[in-house]
Amino acid sequence: MSDKPTKRSGGNGHDEAFEPEITVFTCNYCGYMSADTAGAQRLQYPPGIKLVRLPCTGKTDVAHLLKAFEDGADGVYVVGCSLGNCHHVRGNERGLARVQRTKQLLDEIGLGGERLEMFVVSGGMGATFARHAEEMTERIRELGPNPLRLRKGAKRAYLG
Ligand code: FES
Repeated sequence: MSDKPTKRSGGNGHDEAFEPEITVFTCNYCGYMSADTAGAQRLQYPPGIKLVRLPCTGKTDVAHLLKAFEDGADGVYVVGCSLGNCHHVRGNERGLARVQRTKQLLDEIGLGGERLEMFVVSGGMGATFARHAEEMTERIRELGPNPLRLRKGAKRAYLG
């Protein structure tokens, strides 16, 4: 069983009542390993981070990313291997292109492309994984809750 990073409760200076729920799609290699490393280093990250493990970020598609928002995530990001180091050769490049396309769609529908991001890491970058979690949580806290969640009372049911 892998060691997961410790989740921290509470915010850090903004709206304490709003703890963003953020869905994080990681690849099974560097992306997930960086989360594992953060856990092994006992680094903390915000409690609203929920990991969804994929074989590769090349498996993300526009529909998955939009569905995460429809299901109530306030923010979404993807964590994969560094460019040139994807274990499926160019999967991370395809994943990045889909993230960029989805950001455009989010802007067009008024949800805001800044709610979505992609990061690349190596497996040993536990501190970087934790920092991205902190930074995205802060970004989403400033943007406020996902309007779809407020309207529909959506739950991230696919996370189980
Ligand atoms: Fe990590 Fe492809 S295996 S992004």
